[in-house]
Amino acid sequence: MAGGEKKLWGGRFEKPSADITERLSASIHFDARLYRHDIRGSIAHANMLAKTGIISPAERDAIVAGLREIEREIDAGTFRFERSREDIHMNIEAALTERIGEPGRKLHTARSRNDQVALDTRLYLRDAIDEIDARLARLITLLSDLAERHIDIVMPGYTHLQVAQPVRFSQHLLAHAWALTRDRRRLAFARESANELPLGAGALAGVNYPTDREMVRDELGFAGITPNSMDTVSDRDFALDFLYCAAALGMHLSRFCEELVLWSSAEFNFVRLADGVTTGSSIMPQKRNPDLAELIRGKSGRLYGNLIGLLATLKGLPLAYNRDMQEDKEPLFDSADTVTLALEGMIEMLATMTVNADVMRAALYRNFSTATDLADYLAKKGVPFREAHEITGRVVAHCEKNGIDFFALSADALAKISPAFGPDAAALLSPETSPERKVSAGGTARESVLRQITALRRLVDAPTHG
Ligand code: ARG
Repeated sequence: MAGGEKKLWGGRFEKPSADITERLSASIHFDARLYRHDIRGSIAHANMLAKTGIISPAERDAIVAGLREIEREIDAGTFRFERSREDIHMNIEAALTERIGEPGRKLHTARSRNDQVALDTRLYLRDAIDEIDARLARLITLLSDLAERHIDIVMPGYTHLQVAQPVRFSQHLLAHAWALTRDRRRLAFARESANELPLGAGALAGVNYPTDREMVRDELGFAGITPNSMDTVSDRDFALDFLYCAAALGMHLSRFCEELVLWSSAEFNFVRLADGVTTGSSIMPQKRNPDLAELIRGKSGRLYGNLIGLLATLKGLPLAYNRDMQEDKEPLFDSADTVTLALEGMIEMLATMTVNADVMRAALYRNFSTATDLADYLAKKGVPFREAHEITGRVVAHCEKNGIDFFALSADALAKISPAFGPDAAALLSPETSPERKVSAGGTARESVLRQITALRRLVDAPTHG
């Protein structure tokens, strides 16, 4: 059937397509995965055509039965896709006509591939977003559970990757969880962008039939119908919105992975990644490399590329449909596949990770991690904060110069540096009790962290879209 077959659009042509035209224009090798959405859309279209009297009920029944049979064959892997039929839309329509004859040739009444492809892509994206969102919810739940389990582990918090102040390990995990809740919100917005019915716009101007777009909207579960036929077939904002979500999510996962790479190094040794998610070296027998974390970090690059690529493709396209727009699908599919894979990798790494609480605790006694607590002690006694900062700086310099352990300073030693230090000041040096002093809302005190866990669990359970 390939090659010599007359194109569905072939009426005005005398010569067949050049081989290069087929090779360059074929998208079936990547858009075949839209088959379920294409068939679902075609069935809704056929139902509407029958209801409005554009085709007969018998023709509709033949179309629906034929499409279902094709769907079963594609599911089973027995359907033959033809490159000469260009894309998924024409592969299915041509196969339908081969099977049921005349009614198959009526399916494309009041429809163009321009609104058809917009429909299929939107249907695909809605599903893809739901699947990604479910994995995001699982990851947030996992982080909340880990935060609860490890609520009493205290670790150094960093700025500039220098030890800054003690924090709960849970607070650190939840910081990432909160970022992921924003990814869910963004995805809900992208889903809304996709959730308008484009079918009925025709090629660009609307169609010459009294169609019922509301009926199709209802059958396919869209929230509304697109308001302008030209915008409808030109618009790929929903794809861009999704690609941005995927890029931002990739950035979040990448930052988290960077920490897993650091934390699992011998230098930090805060966590141990399980055997199942690390790999060995072909030359160095001792190695356990965090390849999964590195790959997830690395994949953020292609997620950014997909977004920038489609933006560049769309730039300068005149209204309405242009064939350039076929280039939307590979980045879209790639970003959806990539974030799905990355989220699953993240879940596996975190679910199987061992936390070295003792190593984290030992690391607290570095870089004067409670110096701020000491300065705040003075400020609370009425010393202006800038002066308190200065005095505490002198304490730090004194320890550094004389090789004295800051965390073991006695009340006497402190009082010698400044009489403002009372006998209760030395207790503030302990980094293990420091988090409890962070009483502000959202801080790293136990109560605050527990409140965050409750809030996150409530958010995960709440529906993200109507
Ligand atoms: N495969 C095409 C795409 O993905 C379908 C639309 C083709 N429309 C056209 N007028 N050639 O964009």
